[in-house]
Amino acid sequence: MKALALLVLFTAPALASDNSAAERNAVVLSPAQTKFILRCGGCHGTLGASPPLSVPQLRGLAGWFLCTPDAREYVVRLPNVSRAQLSDADLAQVMNFVTFDLGGASTPPATVRFTAAEVAAIRTRPLNVLPLNAYRRQIVTGLIRRCGAPASLRDYGKANAVTIAAR
Ligand code: HEC
Repeated sequence: MKALALLVLFTAPALASDNSAAERNAVVLSPAQTKFILRCGGCHGTLGASPPLSVPQLRGLAGWFLCTPDAREYVVRLPNVSRAQLSDADLAQVMNFVTFDLGGASTPPATVRFTAAEVAAIRTRPLNVLPLNAYRRQIVTGLIRRCGAPASLRDYGKANAVTIAAR
């Protein structure tokens, strides 16, 4: 019994210091990143980088969608976004993370951030257009023509069309 008690006494501080070392090196996620990983990261990748032909890449690109009013609405009206299990305030926070942080240089200068009120108003009108790809292509063509977005933004829809045609 005595031996066991001593063992506990001597090993407990050692374990505690091991834990704190691990905690010091742990990756710290912001609340927005955590929500993005939980609700969106399964498809878009934890860093917004996904196989671009299966799911559109958000990293370095998502900011372009803030360039025109209809594209800004499109990203919130997407079924996976408007119906996400997030409050309006949390969804606004996630959309700002996606478009400003993941979007990086693609976000036009002087762009206004999403607010809970804006997101609340837009998400009452989830997209129900079919095929969604065709609607996305229309939005993306506007971004390429009017905002100078890269032509590669079109690639996601094209790849899907080819896959569907090949089946
Ligand atoms: C089930 C997989 C899935 C989930 C979950 C998901 N998305 Fe998406 N997302 C897609 C697909 C696929 C598209 C392309 C449009 C479409 O076909 O729906 C897309 C498009 C987008 C776009 C527009 C990019 C473009 O190039 O068209 C944004 C921005 C976006 N998603 C953000 C989010 C956010 C934020 C969440 C979480 C709240 C989320 N997505 C959850 C699959 C998903």
